[in-house]
Amino acid sequence: MKNTILTLLGLAVLSPSLLRAQTPAAPASFGICAACHGPDGKGIGAGTPMPMAPPYGGSKFVNDGDGEVMASIVFTGIAKEDAKFLGIMAPLGAVLKDEDIAAVLTFVRSNFGNKSSAVTAEQVKGWREKYNGKPMQKRSDIEKLLKPAAAQ
Ligand code: HEC
Repeated sequence: MKNTILTLLGLAVLSPSLLRAQTPAAPASFGICAACHGPDGKGIGAGTPMPMAPPYGGSKFVNDGDGEVMASIVFTGIAKEDAKFLGIMAPLGAVLKDEDIAAVLTFVRSNFGNKSSAVTAEQVKGWREKYNGKPMQKRSDIEKLLKPAAAQ
């Protein structure tokens, strides 16, 4: 009886988090990103003159379309053109599997205030063929990949 009550109490405490099915816990692969973008997605050193990396919340590169733009960044990295950030966005396609990338894209696009669609490993497979091994993109190249506002 005591055990039953304890189990029910446990469920009552857990259920709010179980109900929030669309905000899953961070996938293991997010640990790599968090090293620079921070566990809170704000960028390590946010608020200092030179943070490690930019925030994820509200980023057009993160939230654009079906996730292709964000995936392209993970595959090519971003060529460093200024000294805004201490870190460098390196290409990460070689260290992450399609499923890992799908999980991390889905997580980042639906957390930190973002509300964009989930990404599948199947989509990432196609984007790997398109972008993996290509030269690092400049921010201006990435801008050109963005869908026109009207099409979103
Ligand atoms: C070693 C540090 C580092 C790691 C690790 C890292 N990033 Fe980055 N990331 C950066 C930096 C620095 C920039 C900004 C580059 C620039 O604009 O010059 C950036 C930019 C980005 C952007 C563009 C954001 C915007 O709005 O400009 C995305 C998306 C992104 N990273 C995703 C990821 C993901 C996903 C991972 C993990 C799989 C990751 N990054 C791992 C340093 C890092």
